[in-house]
Amino acid sequence: MKKKYPCVSKEYETAVDRARMKLRALITNKRCLCRMLLLAWHSAATYDVHTETGGPFGTMRFQAELSHAANTGLEIVVDLLEPIKQLFPIISYADLYQLAGVVAVEVVGGPLVPFHPGRKDKQETPVEGRLPDADKGGDHLRDVYVKNMGLDDVDIVALSGGYTLGELRRKQKFGVDGPWTTTSIVFDNGYFK
Ligand code: HEM
Repeated sequence: MKKKYPCVSKEYETAVDRARMKLRALITNKRCLCRMLLLAWHSAATYDVHTETGGPFGTMRFQAELSHAANTGLEIVVDLLEPIKQLFPIISYADLYQLAGVVAVEVVGGPLVPFHPGRKDKQETPVEGRLPDADKGGDHLRDVYVKNMGLDDVDIVALSGGYTLGELRRKQKFGVDGPWTTTSIVFDNGYFK
């Protein structure tokens, strides 16, 4: 089935193009690309296909969601994005947070991810606990990605490639700290290898 995307005005498209340039500069200068991708992912990954709640609708701007344990540290990038939101008030937080993830992947030499604007901001934050857990195995991943989010196995593998960037900073919880790959600020297939 062909996907349908929302239509936005010419003015909105222009603002998105200009915001891309600002994001590129911000992400390069502030060295925050991993957290930007994490913001985009954690915003999206709360989506529940059955209740149509959660998901990438800008709710990470609220303390209620930022304070979820898995979102520790994301307030830094949410704050960094605020001046760009002020420059382009027409762009929703929902679009801005996803665009930041797309630009982060571009900045480190990843694929040009198609970006479809038009997400509307929501007010209701998702309940805590919808993101997948690191230590529960494949069945758990299918429960979250396939049953809850409406994705499939190919999506699970493709999304896992996001681990090519960034690092784990949870020694207390997982007993280990450090990057997932040896090239953690280059977008390559290092994680799969
Ligand atoms: C089974 C699914 C996943 C689990 C259990 C998981 C869990 C985690 C954990 C525990 C961290 C460390 C956070 C920290 O130390 O502050 C992390 C970091 C990260 N995750 Fe995931 N994640 C998953 C999927 C994904 C996906 C699909 C993406 C992107 C498409 C992603 C992108 C990242 C990035 C970029 C970081 C590094 C952030 C940084 O260095 O600041 N993750 N993830």
